[in-house]
Amino acid sequence: MSAKLIQGGTIVTASDICRADLLIENGVVAAIGENLQRLAPQAEIIDASGCYLFPGGVDPHTHLDMPFGGTITADDFETGTTAAAYGGTTTIIDFCLTDKGKPLSGAIRTWHDKARSKAVIDYGFHLMIGEITDDVLAELPAVINDEGITSFKVFMAYKNVLQADDGTLYRTLLSAKEHGALVMVHAENGDVIDYLIKQALAEGHTEPIYHALTRPSVLEGEATGRAVRLTGLADSQLYVVHVTCEEAVRQIADGRMEGLRIWGETCPQYLLLDITCLEKPEFEGAKYVWSPPLRAREHQEVLWNALKTGQLQTVGSDQCSFNFKGQKELGAADFSKIPNGGPIIEDRFSLLFSEGVGKGRLTLNQFVDVISTRAAKLFGIFPQKGTIAVGSDADIVIFDPSVSRTLSAATHHMNVDYNPFEGTEVSGVPVSVLSRGEFVIRDRKFVGQPGCGRYLRRGKYGSTAESR
Ligand code: URP
Ligand code: ZN
Ligand code: ZN
Ligand code: ZN
Repeated sequence: MSAKLIQGGTIVTASDICRADLLIENGVVAAIGENLQRLAPQAEIIDASGCYLFPGGVDPHTHLDMPFGGTITADDFETGTTAAAYGGTTTIIDFCLTDKGKPLSGAIRTWHDKARSKAVIDYGFHLMIGEITDDVLAELPAVINDEGITSFKVFMAYKNVLQADDGTLYRTLLSAKEHGALVMVHAENGDVIDYLIKQALAEGHTEPIYHALTRPSVLEGEATGRAVRLTGLADSQLYVVHVTCEEAVRQIADGRMEGLRIWGETCPQYLLLDITCLEKPEFEGAKYVWSPPLRAREHQEVLWNALKTGQLQTVGSDQCSFNFKGQKELGAADFSKIPNGGPIIEDRFSLLFSEGVGKGRLTLNQFVDVISTRAAKLFGIFPQKGTIAVGSDADIVIFDPSVSRTLSAATHHMNVDYNPFEGTEVSGVPVSVLSRGEFVIRDRKFVGQPGCGRYLRRGKYGSTAESR
Protein backbone atom coordinates (compact mmCIF):
# COMPACT_ATOMS: atom_id res chain seq x y z
CA MET A 1 0.00 0.00 0.00
CA SER A 2 1.59 3.21 -1.12
CA ALA A 3 1.29 6.48 0.78
CA LYS A 4 -0.65 9.20 -1.00
CA LEU A 5 -0.78 12.92 -0.44
CA ILE A 6 -3.87 14.67 -1.79
CA GLN A 7 -3.09 18.36 -2.21
CA GLY A 8 -5.14 21.46 -2.90
CA GLY A 9 -8.62 20.18 -2.12
CA THR A 10 -11.27 21.46 0.26
CA ILE A 11 -12.12 18.85 2.89
CA VAL A 12 -15.80 18.74 3.81
CA THR A 13 -17.21 16.70 6.69
CA ALA A 14 -20.60 16.83 8.40
CA SER A 15 -19.22 19.51 10.72
CA ASP A 16 -16.28 21.28 9.02
CA ILE A 17 -15.02 22.77 5.78
CA CYS A 18 -11.30 23.42 5.43
CA ARG A 19 -8.65 23.86 2.77
CA ALA A 20 -6.04 21.27 3.74
CA ASP A 21 -3.89 18.49 2.40
CA LEU A 22 -4.59 14.89 3.25
CA LEU A 23 -1.98 12.21 3.88
CA ILE A 24 -3.00 8.58 3.47
CA GLU A 25 -0.88 5.76 4.85
CA ASN A 26 -1.76 2.10 5.30
CA GLY A 27 -5.30 2.68 4.06
CA VAL A 28 -6.22 5.25 6.67
CA VAL A 29 -6.06 9.02 6.98
CA ALA A 30 -2.66 9.63 8.59
CA ALA A 31 -2.62 13.44 8.74
CA ILE A 32 -4.61 16.52 7.71
CA GLY A 33 -2.89 19.89 7.40
CA GLU A 34 -0.27 21.90 5.53
CA ASN A 35 3.20 20.89 4.35
CA LEU A 36 2.63 17.21 4.99
CA GLN A 37 5.25 16.10 2.48
CA ARG A 38 7.91 16.15 5.20
CA LEU A 39 5.98 13.36 6.97
CA ALA A 40 6.09 11.08 3.95
CA PRO A 41 8.56 12.25 1.29
CA GLN A 42 7.86 9.11 -0.78
CA ALA A 43 4.11 9.68 -0.97
CA GLU A 44 2.47 9.87 -4.37
CA ILE A 45 1.15 13.41 -4.90
CA ILE A 46 -2.44 13.74 -6.09
CA ASP A 47 -3.66 17.14 -7.21
CA ALA A 48 -7.20 17.99 -6.10
CA SER A 49 -7.18 21.73 -6.84
CA GLY A 50 -10.67 23.12 -7.24
CA CYS A 51 -12.21 19.92 -5.87
CA TYR A 52 -14.02 18.98 -2.71
CA LEU A 53 -12.77 16.01 -0.72
CA PHE A 54 -15.82 14.28 0.69
CA PRO A 55 -15.94 11.15 2.84
CA GLY A 56 -17.08 8.29 0.62
CA GLY A 57 -20.84 7.90 0.51
CA VAL A 58 -22.45 5.38 2.84
CA ASP A 59 -25.55 3.87 1.24
CA PRO A 60 -27.54 2.21 4.01
CA HIS A 61 -30.13 0.60 1.73
CA THR A 62 -29.29 -1.68 -1.21
CA HIS A 63 -30.65 -4.91 -2.65
CA LEU A 64 -28.02 -6.62 -4.80
CA ASP A 65 -28.38 -10.10 -6.28
CA MET A 66 -31.76 -10.42 -4.59
CA PRO A 67 -34.64 -12.66 -5.71
CA PHE A 68 -37.83 -10.56 -5.62
CA GLY A 69 -41.14 -10.48 -7.45
CA GLY A 70 -40.46 -13.74 -9.31
CA THR A 71 -37.14 -12.58 -10.73
CA ILE A 72 -33.70 -11.49 -9.50
CA THR A 73 -32.22 -8.00 -9.38
CA ALA A 74 -30.22 -7.06 -12.45
CA ASP A 75 -27.24 -5.81 -10.44
CA ASP A 76 -25.12 -8.17 -8.38
CA PHE A 77 -22.34 -7.27 -5.96
CA GLU A 78 -19.86 -6.68 -8.79
CA THR A 79 -21.89 -4.44 -11.06
CA GLY A 80 -23.74 -2.81 -8.15
CA THR A 81 -20.68 -1.89 -6.12
CA THR A 82 -18.76 -0.81 -9.25
CA ALA A 83 -21.59 1.56 -10.13
CA ALA A 84 -21.73 2.75 -6.52
CA ALA A 85 -18.02 3.57 -6.64
CA TYR A 86 -18.37 5.49 -9.90
CA GLY A 87 -21.00 7.55 -8.14
CA GLY A 88 -18.95 8.30 -5.02
CA THR A 89 -20.27 5.64 -2.65
CA THR A 90 -17.65 3.56 -0.83
CA THR A 91 -19.77 1.63 1.67
CA ILE A 92 -23.09 -0.13 1.24
CA ILE A 93 -25.28 -2.02 3.68
CA ASP A 94 -27.23 -4.64 1.77
CA PHE A 95 -30.31 -6.54 2.87
CA CYS A 96 -29.80 -10.24 3.47
CA LEU A 97 -33.05 -12.00 2.64
CA THR A 98 -34.06 -14.76 5.04
CA ASP A 99 -36.47 -17.65 4.41
CA LYS A 100 -39.25 -18.35 6.88
CA GLY A 101 -38.63 -21.60 8.75
CA LYS A 102 -34.94 -21.77 7.83
CA PRO A 103 -31.96 -20.82 10.04
CA LEU A 104 -30.74 -17.22 9.75
CA SER A 105 -27.16 -18.50 9.61
CA GLY A 106 -27.78 -20.18 6.25
CA ALA A 107 -29.19 -16.99 4.75
CA ILE A 108 -26.21 -15.00 6.01
CA ARG A 109 -23.81 -17.56 4.52
CA THR A 110 -25.61 -17.22 1.18
CA TRP A 111 -25.20 -13.43 1.29
CA HIS A 112 -21.50 -13.70 2.12
CA ASP A 113 -21.13 -16.03 -0.89
CA LYS A 114 -22.85 -13.50 -3.15
CA ALA A 115 -20.60 -10.64 -2.03
CA ARG A 116 -17.18 -12.03 -1.11
CA SER A 117 -15.46 -12.34 -4.48
CA LYS A 118 -17.40 -9.56 -6.19
CA ALA A 119 -17.65 -6.43 -4.04
CA VAL A 120 -15.27 -3.64 -5.04
CA ILE A 121 -16.09 -1.50 -1.97
CA ASP A 122 -16.75 -2.34 1.68
CA TYR A 123 -20.12 -3.72 2.67
CA GLY A 124 -22.22 -4.80 5.62
CA PHE A 125 -25.53 -6.59 5.88
CA HIS A 126 -28.91 -5.93 7.46
CA LEU A 127 -31.20 -8.90 7.99
CA MET A 128 -34.82 -9.10 6.83
CA ILE A 129 -37.01 -10.67 9.49
CA GLY A 130 -40.28 -12.18 8.22
CA GLU A 131 -41.23 -14.11 11.34
CA ILE A 132 -40.19 -14.28 14.96
CA THR A 133 -40.11 -17.80 16.32
CA ASP A 134 -38.25 -19.24 19.28
CA ASP A 135 -35.58 -20.43 16.82
CA VAL A 136 -35.16 -16.94 15.34
CA LEU A 137 -34.97 -15.34 18.81
CA ALA A 138 -32.36 -17.88 19.86
CA GLU A 139 -30.21 -17.02 16.83
CA LEU A 140 -30.34 -13.23 17.13
CA PRO A 141 -27.57 -12.79 19.75
CA ALA A 142 -25.07 -14.63 17.54
CA VAL A 143 -26.16 -12.64 14.49
CA ILE A 144 -25.51 -9.42 16.40
CA ASN A 145 -22.40 -10.37 18.35
CA ASP A 146 -20.58 -12.69 15.95
CA GLU A 147 -21.72 -11.54 12.52
CA GLY A 148 -21.90 -7.87 13.41
CA ILE A 149 -25.34 -7.61 11.81
CA THR A 150 -26.91 -5.07 14.12
CA SER A 151 -30.04 -4.04 12.22
CA PHE A 152 -33.14 -5.95 11.14
CA LYS A 153 -35.82 -4.98 8.64
CA VAL A 154 -39.43 -5.86 9.30
CA PHE A 155 -42.01 -5.50 6.52
CA MET A 156 -45.50 -4.21 7.30
CA ALA A 157 -46.39 -4.68 3.59
CA TYR A 158 -46.05 -7.29 0.79
CA LYS A 159 -48.84 -9.48 2.18
CA ASN A 160 -48.28 -13.24 1.86
CA VAL A 161 -44.65 -12.65 0.80
CA LEU A 162 -42.54 -10.66 3.26
CA GLN A 163 -45.15 -9.07 5.51
CA ALA A 164 -44.82 -9.65 9.25
CA ASP A 165 -47.64 -9.05 11.72
CA ASP A 166 -47.60 -6.42 14.47
CA GLY A 167 -46.71 -9.02 17.10
CA THR A 168 -43.58 -9.92 15.15
CA LEU A 169 -42.65 -6.25 14.84
CA TYR A 170 -43.17 -5.75 18.58
CA ARG A 171 -41.13 -8.81 19.56
CA THR A 172 -38.36 -7.74 17.17
CA LEU A 173 -38.33 -4.30 18.82
CA LEU A 174 -38.05 -5.90 22.26
CA SER A 175 -35.26 -8.20 21.14
CA ALA A 176 -33.40 -5.31 19.47
CA LYS A 177 -33.54 -3.33 22.67
CA GLU A 178 -32.21 -6.24 24.68
CA HIS A 179 -29.30 -7.04 22.34
CA GLY A 180 -28.38 -3.61 20.96
CA ALA A 181 -29.81 -3.64 17.45
CA LEU A 182 -31.78 -1.15 15.33
CA VAL A 183 -35.13 -2.23 13.86
CA MET A 184 -35.83 -0.98 10.35
CA VAL A 185 -39.36 -0.92 9.10
CA HIS A 186 -41.02 -0.85 5.69
CA ALA A 187 -44.12 1.03 6.80
CA GLU A 188 -47.20 0.54 4.63
CA ASN A 189 -50.48 -1.08 5.65
CA GLY A 190 -50.15 -4.32 3.67
CA ASP A 191 -53.59 -5.70 4.51
CA VAL A 192 -55.50 -2.72 3.16
CA ILE A 193 -53.18 -2.45 0.15
CA ASP A 194 -53.89 -6.11 -0.64
CA TYR A 195 -57.62 -5.35 -0.65
CA LEU A 196 -57.20 -2.25 -2.83
CA ILE A 197 -55.09 -4.16 -5.35
CA LYS A 198 -57.66 -6.95 -5.67
CA GLN A 199 -60.42 -4.38 -6.08
CA ALA A 200 -58.55 -2.46 -8.80
CA LEU A 201 -57.78 -5.64 -10.74
CA ALA A 202 -61.39 -6.83 -10.41
CA GLU A 203 -62.44 -3.53 -11.99
CA GLY A 204 -60.10 -4.19 -14.89
CA HIS A 205 -57.40 -1.66 -13.95
CA THR A 206 -54.06 -3.19 -14.90
CA GLU A 207 -51.84 -0.18 -15.74
CA PRO A 208 -48.73 0.87 -13.74
CA ILE A 209 -50.43 3.97 -12.28
CA TYR A 210 -52.66 1.63 -10.25
CA HIS A 211 -49.58 0.52 -8.34
CA ALA A 212 -49.50 4.02 -6.84
CA LEU A 213 -53.27 4.47 -6.58
CA THR A 214 -53.62 1.29 -4.51
CA ARG A 215 -50.93 2.40 -2.05
CA PRO A 216 -52.14 5.85 -0.89
CA SER A 217 -49.93 7.90 1.40
CA VAL A 218 -52.42 7.67 4.26
CA LEU A 219 -51.56 3.97 4.51
CA GLU A 220 -47.85 4.79 4.83
CA GLY A 221 -48.64 7.36 7.50
CA GLU A 222 -50.86 4.91 9.38
CA ALA A 223 -48.23 2.14 9.38
CA THR A 224 -45.46 4.58 10.31
CA GLY A 225 -47.52 5.82 13.26
CA ARG A 226 -48.21 2.24 14.37
CA ALA A 227 -44.51 1.38 14.23
CA VAL A 228 -43.61 4.58 16.13
CA ARG A 229 -46.14 3.74 18.87
CA LEU A 230 -44.95 0.14 19.19
CA THR A 231 -41.37 1.43 19.45
CA GLY A 232 -42.42 3.70 22.31
CA LEU A 233 -44.20 0.84 24.07
CA ALA A 234 -41.13 -1.37 23.71
CA ASP A 235 -38.79 1.50 24.68
CA SER A 236 -36.77 0.43 21.64
CA GLN A 237 -35.33 2.17 18.57
CA LEU A 238 -36.64 2.40 15.02
CA TYR A 239 -35.34 3.43 11.59
CA VAL A 240 -38.10 3.99 9.04
CA VAL A 241 -36.77 3.19 5.55
CA HIS A 242 -37.78 4.90 2.31
CA VAL A 243 -40.10 7.59 3.73
CA THR A 244 -42.10 9.19 0.91
CA CYS A 245 -44.81 11.43 2.30
CA GLU A 246 -45.95 14.15 4.67
CA GLU A 247 -48.16 11.76 6.69
CA ALA A 248 -45.15 9.57 7.55
CA VAL A 249 -42.84 12.52 8.27
CA ARG A 250 -45.39 13.86 10.75
CA GLN A 251 -45.55 10.56 12.64
CA ILE A 252 -41.76 10.39 12.84
CA ALA A 253 -41.52 14.02 13.95
CA ASP A 254 -44.20 13.43 16.62
CA GLY A 255 -42.30 10.46 18.02
CA ARG A 256 -39.04 12.40 18.05
CA MET A 257 -40.70 15.36 19.79
CA GLU A 258 -41.73 12.93 22.53
CA GLY A 259 -38.13 11.84 22.89
CA LEU A 260 -38.48 8.45 21.17
CA ARG A 261 -35.47 7.04 19.35
CA ILE A 262 -36.94 7.23 15.85
CA TRP A 263 -34.93 7.83 12.67
CA GLY A 264 -36.02 8.20 9.08
CA GLU A 265 -34.55 7.70 5.62
CA THR A 266 -35.76 8.98 2.29
CA CYS A 267 -34.46 8.33 -1.24
CA PRO A 268 -33.59 10.53 -4.25
CA GLN A 269 -36.58 9.23 -6.20
CA TYR A 270 -39.05 10.52 -3.59
CA LEU A 271 -37.29 13.88 -3.38
CA LEU A 272 -37.20 14.41 -7.14
CA LEU A 273 -39.78 12.30 -9.03
CA ASP A 274 -43.55 12.24 -8.65
CA ILE A 275 -46.59 10.05 -9.30
CA THR A 276 -47.12 11.36 -12.83
CA CYS A 277 -44.10 9.28 -13.93
CA LEU A 278 -46.27 6.17 -13.55
CA GLU A 279 -48.62 7.51 -16.23
CA LYS A 280 -45.98 7.46 -18.97
CA PRO A 281 -47.30 5.70 -22.09
CA GLU A 282 -46.14 2.39 -23.61
CA PHE A 283 -45.88 0.81 -20.16
CA GLU A 284 -42.92 3.10 -19.40
CA GLY A 285 -44.60 3.93 -16.10
CA ALA A 286 -43.34 0.53 -14.90
CA LYS A 287 -39.82 1.98 -14.68
CA TYR A 288 -41.10 4.14 -11.82
CA VAL A 289 -42.69 1.41 -9.70
CA TRP A 290 -41.31 1.53 -6.18
CA SER A 291 -42.93 0.58 -2.91
CA PRO A 292 -43.94 2.84 -1.32
CA PRO A 293 -44.83 4.58 -4.60
CA LEU A 294 -43.85 8.00 -5.93
CA ARG A 295 -46.20 10.64 -4.51
CA ALA A 296 -47.84 13.90 -5.56
CA ARG A 297 -45.33 16.70 -5.98
CA GLU A 298 -46.34 18.51 -2.77
CA HIS A 299 -44.65 15.83 -0.67
CA GLN A 300 -41.21 16.64 -2.07
CA GLU A 301 -40.86 19.94 -0.25
CA VAL A 302 -41.88 18.26 3.01
CA LEU A 303 -39.13 15.66 2.53
CA TRP A 304 -36.46 18.25 1.69
CA ASN A 305 -37.47 20.31 4.72
CA ALA A 306 -37.40 17.22 6.94
CA LEU A 307 -33.81 16.54 5.81
CA LYS A 308 -32.88 20.16 6.38
CA THR A 309 -34.38 20.28 9.88
CA GLY A 310 -33.20 16.82 10.90
CA GLN A 311 -36.59 15.10 11.13
CA LEU A 312 -35.24 12.70 8.47
CA GLN A 313 -31.56 11.87 8.80
CA THR A 314 -30.39 9.82 5.82
CA VAL A 315 -30.79 9.28 2.08
CA GLY A 316 -30.53 5.68 0.89
CA SER A 317 -30.77 4.53 -2.70
CA ASP A 318 -33.04 1.51 -2.14
CA GLN A 319 -31.10 0.15 -5.12
CA CYS A 320 -33.22 -2.71 -6.47
CA SER A 321 -32.75 -2.82 -10.24
CA PHE A 322 -34.77 -4.70 -12.81
CA ASN A 323 -34.44 -4.37 -16.58
CA PHE A 324 -37.38 -2.83 -18.40
CA LYS A 325 -37.14 -5.56 -21.04
CA GLY A 326 -37.98 -8.95 -19.63
CA GLN A 327 -38.26 -7.98 -15.95
CA LYS A 328 -40.50 -4.92 -15.50
CA GLU A 329 -42.44 -6.42 -18.42
CA LEU A 330 -43.55 -9.29 -16.18
CA GLY A 331 -46.28 -6.88 -15.09
CA ALA A 332 -47.41 -5.83 -18.59
CA ALA A 333 -50.89 -7.27 -18.04
CA ASP A 334 -51.10 -6.72 -14.26
CA PHE A 335 -49.50 -3.85 -12.34
CA SER A 336 -49.22 -6.01 -9.21
CA LYS A 337 -46.69 -8.24 -11.01
CA ILE A 338 -44.26 -5.42 -11.91
CA PRO A 339 -41.06 -6.06 -9.91
CA ASN A 340 -40.71 -3.16 -7.44
CA GLY A 341 -37.58 -1.06 -7.35
CA GLY A 342 -35.11 0.86 -9.45
CA PRO A 343 -31.45 1.62 -10.18
CA ILE A 344 -30.24 4.54 -8.03
CA ILE A 345 -27.03 3.33 -6.37
CA GLU A 346 -24.80 5.22 -8.80
CA ASP A 347 -26.61 8.55 -8.94
CA ARG A 348 -27.74 8.99 -5.30
CA PHE A 349 -24.64 10.98 -4.37
CA SER A 350 -24.59 13.33 -7.38
CA LEU A 351 -28.36 13.90 -7.35
CA LEU A 352 -28.22 14.96 -3.70
CA PHE A 353 -25.24 17.22 -4.28
CA SER A 354 -26.70 18.85 -7.36
CA GLU A 355 -30.33 19.15 -6.23
CA GLY A 356 -29.48 19.62 -2.56
CA VAL A 357 -26.37 21.80 -2.33
CA GLY A 358 -26.60 23.17 -5.87
CA LYS A 359 -30.18 24.36 -5.40
CA GLY A 360 -29.64 25.74 -1.90
CA ARG A 361 -31.76 23.13 -0.10
CA LEU A 362 -28.88 21.67 1.93
CA THR A 363 -25.59 23.08 3.13
CA LEU A 364 -22.39 21.25 2.19
CA ASN A 365 -22.18 19.88 5.75
CA GLN A 366 -25.79 18.70 5.68
CA PHE A 367 -25.11 16.99 2.35
CA VAL A 368 -22.22 15.01 3.86
CA ASP A 369 -24.31 14.15 6.90
CA VAL A 370 -27.26 12.71 4.93
CA ILE A 371 -25.17 10.99 2.25
CA SER A 372 -22.52 9.47 4.51
CA THR A 373 -21.99 10.40 8.15
CA ARG A 374 -25.33 9.82 9.80
CA ALA A 375 -25.80 6.35 8.32
CA ALA A 376 -22.31 5.40 9.52
CA LYS A 377 -23.21 6.57 13.03
CA LEU A 378 -26.62 4.88 13.15
CA PHE A 379 -25.35 1.58 11.77
CA GLY A 380 -22.26 1.20 13.92
CA ILE A 381 -19.38 1.92 11.51
CA PHE A 382 -18.42 5.47 12.56
CA PRO A 383 -15.74 6.88 12.62
CA GLN A 384 -14.12 4.11 10.57
CA LYS A 385 -16.57 5.16 7.85
CA GLY A 386 -18.56 8.34 7.26
CA THR A 387 -15.98 11.03 7.90
CA ILE A 388 -12.51 12.31 7.07
CA ALA A 389 -10.50 12.23 10.29
CA VAL A 390 -7.10 10.97 11.36
CA GLY A 391 -7.44 7.20 11.83
CA SER A 392 -10.55 6.84 9.68
CA ASP A 393 -10.49 4.60 6.62
CA ALA A 394 -9.28 6.63 3.66
CA ASP A 395 -12.55 6.37 1.74
CA ILE A 396 -12.37 9.64 -0.15
CA VAL A 397 -14.26 11.19 -3.06
CA ILE A 398 -12.42 13.80 -5.09
CA PHE A 399 -15.37 15.76 -6.40
CA ASP A 400 -15.23 18.47 -9.03
CA PRO A 401 -18.25 20.76 -8.53
CA SER A 402 -17.54 22.82 -11.66
CA VAL A 403 -18.36 20.12 -14.21
CA SER A 404 -21.89 19.31 -15.32
CA ARG A 405 -23.02 16.04 -16.86
CA THR A 406 -26.21 14.33 -17.97
CA LEU A 407 -27.40 11.12 -16.33
CA SER A 408 -28.25 8.38 -18.81
CA ALA A 409 -28.50 4.62 -19.24
CA ALA A 410 -26.06 5.06 -22.14
CA THR A 411 -23.29 6.14 -19.77
CA HIS A 412 -24.17 4.71 -16.36
CA HIS A 413 -22.48 1.61 -14.98
CA MET A 414 -25.47 -0.18 -13.48
CA ASN A 415 -26.38 -3.42 -15.24
CA VAL A 416 -29.79 -2.22 -16.27
CA ASP A 417 -31.36 -0.96 -19.50
CA TYR A 418 -32.85 2.33 -18.30
CA ASN A 419 -32.17 5.18 -15.90
CA PRO A 420 -35.11 6.77 -14.07
CA PHE A 421 -33.24 10.08 -14.21
CA GLU A 422 -32.52 9.82 -17.96
CA GLY A 423 -31.59 13.26 -19.30
CA THR A 424 -31.26 14.91 -15.90
CA GLU A 425 -28.37 17.35 -15.79
CA VAL A 426 -26.38 17.34 -12.56
CA SER A 427 -23.66 19.70 -11.45
CA GLY A 428 -20.54 18.06 -10.10
CA VAL A 429 -18.71 14.83 -10.80
CA PRO A 430 -16.89 12.32 -8.57
CA VAL A 431 -13.61 12.41 -10.48
CA SER A 432 -11.70 9.88 -8.37
CA VAL A 433 -12.76 7.62 -5.53
CA LEU A 434 -10.54 5.85 -3.02
CA SER A 435 -11.48 2.92 -0.82
CA ARG A 436 -9.15 2.37 2.15
CA GLY A 437 -6.51 4.47 0.39
CA GLU A 438 -6.59 2.67 -2.96
CA PHE A 439 -8.12 4.12 -6.10
CA VAL A 440 -11.29 2.37 -7.21
CA ILE A 441 -12.14 5.13 -9.69
CA ARG A 442 -9.31 7.24 -11.08
CA ASP A 443 -10.08 10.11 -13.43
CA ARG A 444 -13.52 8.57 -14.13
CA LYS A 445 -12.05 5.15 -14.99
CA PHE A 446 -12.60 2.00 -12.96
CA VAL A 447 -9.30 0.71 -11.58
CA GLY A 448 -10.65 -1.42 -8.72
CA GLN A 449 -10.74 -5.15 -8.19
CA PRO A 450 -13.74 -7.44 -7.59
CA GLY A 451 -13.25 -9.01 -4.18
CA CYS A 452 -11.34 -6.04 -2.76
CA GLY A 453 -14.35 -4.90 -0.76
CA ARG A 454 -14.27 -6.07 2.84
CA TYR A 455 -17.13 -7.23 5.01
CA LEU A 456 -17.93 -4.80 7.83
CA ARG A 457 -18.75 -6.35 11.17
CA ARG A 458 -20.78 -3.48 12.62
CA GLY A 459 -21.05 -2.18 16.17
CA LYS A 460 -24.22 -2.40 18.21
CA TYR A 461 -26.88 0.27 18.12
CA GLY A 462 -25.74 3.18 20.27
CA SER A 463 -22.07 2.19 20.12
CA THR A 464 -21.13 5.32 18.14
CA ALA A 465 -21.64 8.97 18.94
CA GLU A 466 -24.99 10.55 18.13
CA SER A 467 -26.86 7.32 17.51
CA ARG A 468 -28.71 7.54 20.80
O1 URP B 1 -39.69 -0.91 -4.33
C1 URP B 1 -38.84 -1.23 -3.53
N1 URP B 1 -38.60 -0.46 -2.50
N2 URP B 1 -38.14 -2.36 -3.69
C2 URP B 1 -37.17 -2.88 -2.81
C3 URP B 1 -37.72 -3.63 -1.64
C4 URP B 1 -38.08 -2.73 -0.51
O2 URP B 1 -39.24 -2.73 -0.10
O3 URP B 1 -37.22 -2.05 0.03
ZN1 ZN C 1 -39.04 -1.70 1.73
ZN1 ZN D 1 -57.74 1.09 -15.95
ZN1 ZN E 1 -35.45 -1.66 -0.08
